[in-house]
Amino acid sequence: MCTGRSGSLLRTSLWSKAETGMTDRLVCACNMVSEKEIVQALKKGATETPDIQRITQAGTSCGRCLMTIDRMVEDYERMHPRDPQGKLGF
Ligand code: FES
Repeated sequence: MCTGRSGSLLRTSLWSKAETGMTDRLVCACNMVSEKEIVQALKKGATETPDIQRITQAGTSCGRCLMTIDRMVEDYERMHPRDPQGKLGF
Protein backbone atom coordinates (compact mmCIF):
# COMPACT_ATOMS: atom_id res chain seq x y z
CA MET A 1 0.00 0.00 0.00
CA CYS A 2 1.58 3.21 -1.10
CA THR A 3 0.50 6.03 1.17
CA GLY A 4 1.93 8.77 -0.95
CA ARG A 5 3.42 10.25 2.18
CA SER A 6 6.87 11.70 1.96
CA GLY A 7 9.28 13.62 4.10
CA SER A 8 11.56 12.27 6.76
CA LEU A 9 9.81 14.08 9.61
CA LEU A 10 6.52 12.36 8.88
CA ARG A 11 8.26 9.01 8.39
CA THR A 12 10.23 9.47 11.60
CA SER A 13 6.98 10.07 13.42
CA LEU A 14 5.52 6.96 11.83
CA TRP A 15 8.55 4.92 12.86
CA SER A 16 8.30 6.09 16.43
CA LYS A 17 4.73 4.86 16.55
CA ALA A 18 5.60 1.58 14.83
CA GLU A 19 8.46 0.88 17.18
CA THR A 20 6.35 1.49 20.23
CA GLY A 21 3.46 -0.59 18.95
CA MET A 22 1.19 2.43 18.62
CA THR A 23 0.28 1.65 15.01
CA ASP A 24 -0.47 -1.46 13.07
CA ARG A 25 -1.16 -0.01 9.62
CA LEU A 26 -1.61 -2.56 6.85
CA VAL A 27 1.28 -2.37 4.38
CA CYS A 28 0.60 -5.40 2.21
CA ALA A 29 -3.08 -5.92 1.54
CA CYS A 30 -2.54 -9.07 -0.53
CA ASN A 31 -0.87 -10.92 2.32
CA MET A 32 -2.33 -8.97 5.24
CA VAL A 33 1.07 -7.87 6.55
CA SER A 34 1.13 -4.92 8.90
CA GLU A 35 3.74 -2.27 9.49
CA LYS A 36 4.35 -3.77 12.92
CA GLU A 37 5.19 -7.18 11.43
CA ILE A 38 7.69 -5.58 9.07
CA VAL A 39 9.31 -3.67 11.92
CA GLN A 40 9.56 -6.94 13.87
CA ALA A 41 11.32 -8.57 10.88
CA LEU A 42 13.73 -5.63 10.71
CA LYS A 43 14.44 -5.93 14.42
CA LYS A 44 15.19 -9.64 13.94
CA GLY A 45 17.88 -8.74 11.40
CA ALA A 46 16.24 -8.37 7.99
CA THR A 47 18.29 -5.85 6.03
CA GLU A 48 16.75 -5.94 2.55
CA THR A 49 13.31 -6.12 1.00
CA PRO A 50 13.82 -9.77 -0.06
CA ASP A 51 14.45 -10.59 3.62
CA ILE A 52 11.12 -8.98 4.50
CA GLN A 53 9.43 -10.94 1.72
CA ARG A 54 10.82 -14.25 2.99
CA ILE A 55 9.97 -13.56 6.62
CA THR A 56 6.53 -11.98 6.24
CA GLN A 57 5.38 -12.79 2.68
CA ALA A 58 4.73 -9.05 2.20
CA GLY A 59 5.32 -7.99 -1.38
CA THR A 60 5.16 -11.50 -2.80
CA SER A 61 1.88 -11.15 -4.69
CA CYS A 62 0.96 -8.05 -6.75
CA GLY A 63 4.01 -6.04 -5.66
CA ARG A 64 2.16 -2.75 -5.08
CA CYS A 65 3.59 -2.53 -1.56
CA LEU A 66 7.23 -3.04 -2.57
CA MET A 67 8.04 0.68 -2.70
CA THR A 68 6.65 1.13 0.80
CA ILE A 69 8.65 -1.85 2.07
CA ASP A 70 11.79 -0.49 0.37
CA ARG A 71 11.27 2.85 2.12
CA MET A 72 10.70 1.17 5.47
CA VAL A 73 13.93 -0.84 5.08
CA GLU A 74 15.88 2.28 4.08
CA ASP A 75 14.44 4.31 6.95
CA TYR A 76 15.15 1.55 9.45
CA GLU A 77 18.72 1.11 8.25
CA ARG A 78 19.30 4.86 8.43
CA MET A 79 17.85 5.09 11.92
CA HIS A 80 19.47 1.85 13.16
CA PRO A 81 22.86 1.48 11.48
CA ARG A 82 24.36 -1.92 12.09
CA ASP A 83 27.51 -3.90 11.53
CA PRO A 84 27.59 -5.23 7.93
CA GLN A 85 28.34 -8.67 9.42
CA GLY A 86 25.00 -8.55 11.24
CA LYS A 87 22.99 -9.46 8.13
CA LEU A 88 20.76 -12.49 8.38
CA GLY A 89 22.09 -15.56 6.62
CA PHE A 90 19.13 -17.09 4.88
S1 FES B 1 -0.12 -5.33 -1.68
FE1 FES B 1 1.68 -6.41 -1.14
S2 FES B 1 1.88 -7.92 -2.67
FE2 FES B 1 0.03 -6.90 -3.16
